[in-house]
Amino acid sequence: MHLRLVIYVRVVLAYSGGLDTSVILKLMQEKLNAEVITVTVDVGQKDDFEKIEEKALKLGAVKHYTIDAKEEFAKNYLTKAIKFNALYEDAYPLATALARPLIAEKIVEIAKKENADAVAHGCTGKGNDQVRFDLAVKALYPEIQIVAPVREWGLTRDWEMEYAKKNGIPVKEKIYSIDENLWGRSIEGGILEDPSEEPPEEVFEWTLSPEKSPEKPEYVTIEFEEGIPVALNGKEMGLVELIETLNLLAGKHGVGRIDHIEDRTVGIKSREVYEAPAAVTLIKAHKDLEKFVLTKWVLEFKEIVDSKWAWLVYNGLWFEPLREALDAFVDAVEKNVSGTVKLKLYNGNAIVVGRESQNALYDLDLATYEKSKYDQKRAIGFIELFGMQSVLAYSTASKHKLKDFESKKAAEKVAS
Ligand code: ARG
Repeated sequence: MHLRLVIYVRVVLAYSGGLDTSVILKLMQEKLNAEVITVTVDVGQKDDFEKIEEKALKLGAVKHYTIDAKEEFAKNYLTKAIKFNALYEDAYPLATALARPLIAEKIVEIAKKENADAVAHGCTGKGNDQVRFDLAVKALYPEIQIVAPVREWGLTRDWEMEYAKKNGIPVKEKIYSIDENLWGRSIEGGILEDPSEEPPEEVFEWTLSPEKSPEKPEYVTIEFEEGIPVALNGKEMGLVELIETLNLLAGKHGVGRIDHIEDRTVGIKSREVYEAPAAVTLIKAHKDLEKFVLTKWVLEFKEIVDSKWAWLVYNGLWFEPLREALDAFVDAVEKNVSGTVKLKLYNGNAIVVGRESQNALYDLDLATYEKSKYDQKRAIGFIELFGMQSVLAYSTASKHKLKDFESKKAAEKVAS
């Protein structure tokens, strides 16, 4: 009798239940002799988690975890995204980008607990998610191996479809690549890869088109405490519930559709379509409230900080010390950002129509066109000093120009 030593590698796979991760779940057993533990992290995607577990086990996973991380996602990630008005390239509210470090954290936790040799993900070598996932794992658990079969083995969608059919992996013939969580939904692929074509209605699930949205506007009020939304239409609620409710409300009015050309970390320009009704509404409201309560100097500087923070998150640098340093700055600034903002949701738009705050720097007596304590005559001296250098620079330059002109004319006269 021969005794054969079989060596298994134990891999923890971030499993979504979709095509990529289902194919690699099988493939890693086949090619790496891997014992695969699957982990699905619930960050608010509308999925049937029992079905996903069933599917994983059927495809050979030795164990499956479903982790509800919605509260953590809202508390540790989305509160910050709101405080920073986080929009990458002024457009994308970063739903996918924000969830990746959290998913990586959960995978690492299970990898440690299960004494795994490696963690695996289904990211391609073209996108941003590989960067976010890899960098988070490397920061949190430098000793662990990372396996990314789609990237490493150069898998294509067609090949995966073939493989899935041959290996009894149930697949839908879907054309789009979709990622969703509490903060938004991203749709890529298919006809959307042609940037000249309007996205077909079928890609949208959270929002109605402006044509189909209600004829009548709807008003909402959002109350913020230190930069964080705490109540919707006067009703206090936790952030998860508030976002879920607002996704429905604003989505019904077509708010939060985004179609933009995005610069990926790896340098590829891509056409991205998103739905993020709550994110778009909350950021609009929050930004408006900030203008009401923060000084012009803070606002001016915060714009730079906001866009740098969004840049870091987009590019997978969540664990970069600069991100934490910016967090400290924003927490200090946001202490004053409390108040209520009223918006009108209508036909694809969320329009701010009113704001109130005890911390408002708006002073009616200063702003009014009526008689006020503001002494208009003091403006004369202020303007004099405020613009002194600029005026001086302009008049000096004009003098030089005049001199040049005169000497040119004189030279022409001599020549003729
Ligand atoms: N372009 C977006 C981002 O980089 C969305 C990515 C969607 N990811 C996905 N696996 N479908 O964050």
